[in-house]
Amino acid sequence: MKRIARITLLLLLAAGLWLALKPTMGNRRFTFLPFRWSEYIDRMDFWLNLGAFGILGMTVWLAFGTLEKAFRSVWLMTGFITLLNILLELIQSSIPGRAMDMADVWAGLFGCVGGIVAGLVLQLVGIRKKTGSKEPQVLFLDQTGRLGGAELMLLDIAAARAADSEVILFQDGEFRTALENVGVKTSVLELGGEASTVDKQAGLKRVLRSIPGILELMLQLVQAARSFDVVYANTAKALIIGGPAARLAGRPLIFHLHDIIADGHFSVLNQQALVHCANLCAQSVIANSEATKAAFIACGGRAELCVVIPNGFHIPAERSAKAKVDDLRGSLGIPAGAWTVLMAGRLAHWKGQHVLLEALKAVPKAHAVLLGDALFTDEDRQYALQLHTQADAPELAGRIHFAGFQKETMAYFDLADVVVHASVHAEPFGRVIVEGMLAGKPVIASRAGGAAEIVQHEQTGLLVDPGSAIELADALMRLLKDPIFAQGIARQAQQTAQDTYALNAVQEKIESVIQQRASRESREESETAATHPIQQAA
Ligand code: UDP
Ligand code: GLC
Repeated sequence: MKRIARITLLLLLAAGLWLALKPTMGNRRFTFLPFRWSEYIDRMDFWLNLGAFGILGMTVWLAFGTLEKAFRSVWLMTGFITLLNILLELIQSSIPGRAMDMADVWAGLFGCVGGIVAGLVLQLVGIRKKTGSKEPQVLFLDQTGRLGGAELMLLDIAAARAADSEVILFQDGEFRTALENVGVKTSVLELGGEASTVDKQAGLKRVLRSIPGILELMLQLVQAARSFDVVYANTAKALIIGGPAARLAGRPLIFHLHDIIADGHFSVLNQQALVHCANLCAQSVIANSEATKAAFIACGGRAELCVVIPNGFHIPAERSAKAKVDDLRGSLGIPAGAWTVLMAGRLAHWKGQHVLLEALKAVPKAHAVLLGDALFTDEDRQYALQLHTQADAPELAGRIHFAGFQKETMAYFDLADVVVHASVHAEPFGRVIVEGMLAGKPVIASRAGGAAEIVQHEQTGLLVDPGSAIELADALMRLLKDPIFAQGIARQAQQTAQDTYALNAVQEKIESVIQQRASRESREESETAATHPIQQAA
């Protein structure tokens, strides 16, 4: 049975038991029981009080016990319930012919203490045992079951500390399998109802309808978070739901910001919700690029929370064998020797696959492989269909090869002569750019966001204006016609990528943020925040 339903039921039971059976309200018509049975029950008043207030105490503990610090003293809770009981007795004694019954008050007090203890025991039984490890225990949260760039980064982070981490996803999918395959304990707490359909552009109506689902998941996360030292939200929804949950549980929160919080990526409402939630709930924000950090601050985010850590990558000891690459080219239908462009990444309008197809009309004979699929929204799926139609144009016929989503991507980068990134909005980071550089391929990227930080124009790649098919076509022609230049920038890019984006170094930086947040002082800070949320927020 779901938690909220369980608590509501207990509350109703407590109230029902008290109201329906308690004949001491002075008017026996209040009870539906036969007269004589009511007389008998009257003498059982003590036990009724004990039972009803026991259930009430247990309910209150289960509902609010998680606000550990707010209810630092159990006396506060018992005091409150007992006061309620005395109040009821006073009301009853104002009815002519009735008096206040101290025995009932005592019964209520014992009942509520017993109930609170029972609630506490139930809660403790539900909490998983600690591993005994001295490393900080981290609860990672991510909203999706699909494998986007943010999830691939989390996969590596969680795999490196699998013994001391757990991941909760809000949706099932291949991401869970990938995490389990590398030994990371993973569970799925589905985000129910309307809440699962709220996306980055959602307006007020959809957000309001999603509230029940969000609250339910939040309560589950509060419970889960109490078994960990740090909560680590890896996506926007994970922050919105996991942030308040971490705070209520008194655990520090790290928010890994993979998105540029600005128009084009998020509705204004979502921008505000995200930034305020991060400001109030997070102790650290890890931004994946300077551009991501700048957008967060421009939107009102607290600069002092931010640290910039780029994505990290495995650097393979060797690349794909030539035979494997040739086989792959053959299976995709690329003619031998054809100059080939790779564009890797999910199919989505802002990723700009249509810009590449447009540019290729001006680069005759060049072939292109589109690696990836529509991952997240119906609009993305619609866009994927449009791309197929665009690729059927006579000028492109037979030159565009859709490879779909592949888990193993290295051979695709190895089959290419050039790697293109063509996002029409600022790319927060752009893993595919680094992957192209590590493969030793010349890269063309959109001059905006993280992409412009990764690529130095004409040194480690070429930058073009976002959305400009003409500039992209020119850059492609330049690389096609000048293979020496193309090889030169590719070599330099490979060295830079190996020096800057090695996974170990990036993991160490992230681990140091985790260690810092798990430290005693940091935990005490967040526990205080949980006790005095209003003062802290102000
Ligand atoms: N990718 C993949 N299989 C595919 C297409 C893409 O594994 O079929 C990977 C790609 O190699 C990259 C990630 O998906 O690591 C995409 O990350 P990026 O940061 O480029 O974009 P995002 O989709 O996260 O915005
Ligand atoms: C997000 C961003 C992408 C970034 C990835 C990993 O998916 O869209 O630009 O590379 O996260 O940080």
